[in-house]
Amino acid sequence: MVEAIYKPGLEGVIAGETTIAAVEQTSLSYRGYNIADLAENTTFEEVAHLLLYGDLPTSKQLSQLQTTLAQVRPLPQEVIQVLRKIPTDVPMMDVLRSTLSFAGHFDPVKGDAPDDLRRRAVWLMAVSAGVVAARFRLLKNREPLDPKPGLSHAAQLLYQAIGEEPDETATRLLDLTLILYAEHEYNASTFATRIVASTMSDMVSAIVAGVGTLKGPLHGGANEAAMNMLAQFDSADAASKWIREAFEKKHKVMGFGHRVYKNGDHRAHILEDELRTLAEQKGQTKWMEIYDAIKDPMVNEKKIYPNVDYPCGLTYYLLGLPIDMYTPLFVCSRVTGWCAHFIEQAMNNRLIRPLSRYTGPAERKVAPIAQRV
Ligand code: SDX
Repeated sequence: MVEAIYKPGLEGVIAGETTIAAVEQTSLSYRGYNIADLAENTTFEEVAHLLLYGDLPTSKQLSQLQTTLAQVRPLPQEVIQVLRKIPTDVPMMDVLRSTLSFAGHFDPVKGDAPDDLRRRAVWLMAVSAGVVAARFRLLKNREPLDPKPGLSHAAQLLYQAIGEEPDETATRLLDLTLILYAEHEYNASTFATRIVASTMSDMVSAIVAGVGTLKGPLHGGANEAAMNMLAQFDSADAASKWIREAFEKKHKVMGFGHRVYKNGDHRAHILEDELRTLAEQKGQTKWMEIYDAIKDPMVNEKKIYPNVDYPCGLTYYLLGLPIDMYTPLFVCSRVTGWCAHFIEQAMNNRLIRPLSRYTGPAERKVAPIAQRV
């Protein structure tokens, strides 16, 4: 009998092995490549290939991936019809959860061999981005746009959502966030997808579980929650006043802290530098004063550091994206990490089933219903 250990929230528990990413205090790497190196020298399509196939693509492999993405990108009309029927006040993460599940009935990939699963993952990359873009067009009473040939995945997503080709800065920054969000070993949503894989269920079910898990503000939903927090302030002074009250009331500040990183999130450092440049370029440095008015006391007094969601929310905001799109963009990226973990679990599986510690009533006898009070 294996020795049972109890750790609330599985904190500090190694629940499995992975070759996909290493999340350490000193570094984050995807399949041995440091995140700073990837951020500087690759695109999201290259990172997707790295996660799904185990290595960065050659030029030929990259164009094959891009060709496959282009082939599967157009949404089935049935999916667009469903998007039209979902009430306009439904949050985008709920739209994604139900629409990806529905889109699974039109999955163009047959089979469940590893290469079939990789092709299904590429299809899920395309359909998640397509659903987000189409929904935001419909919310503006515009018709969904057909894909425009020749655009990168990031540029295509923005083009189909906004209706015009994005500028180089917006494309590069969205692509950077997709790289940073793509994978993070056994985070809650990825672990959820691995649990689904461990029962030998299907990849679409696993991704729907991932979407539902990521939505929570303690996880991926933090990028929207952090921006909604910042958006309430019209000055750094207002933000300073608010953070004091938050300390007094012991409120959780969204976009800060991390279950693993205790000295800062490597991704936040990378993105924050880009965010400061973007704010300068757009003459929006007031936002950085507000941003720092929350960050500085959290870091200097509480030693609680920004995670990736804190700079990401404001980055998307300065790019003019609607706040309800932020966590869905996280999905459009993390779907690659989720699928890579689904495949890894499926290829070397053991059912994931932890124990629990019972703290309920002691054993007791059933009384006839007439005697129950
Ligand atoms: C993501 O796991 C991943 O890898 C996730 C992710 C990924 O890429 O998949 O990195 C993405 O989910 C990032 C996290 C986004 N979530 C948020 O920003 C929500 C706010 N953060 C907190 O809720 C919290 O930091 C968690 C949930 C992220 C981590 O919480 P833990 O590990 O359970 O830590 P804890 O709640 O036990 O906190 C330890 C102490 C507590 O103080 P005490 O009760 O001991 O006095 O630190 C405090 C907490 O109150 N604390 C915070 C805080 N985070 C921790 N206090 C105020 N604000 C915060 N954000």
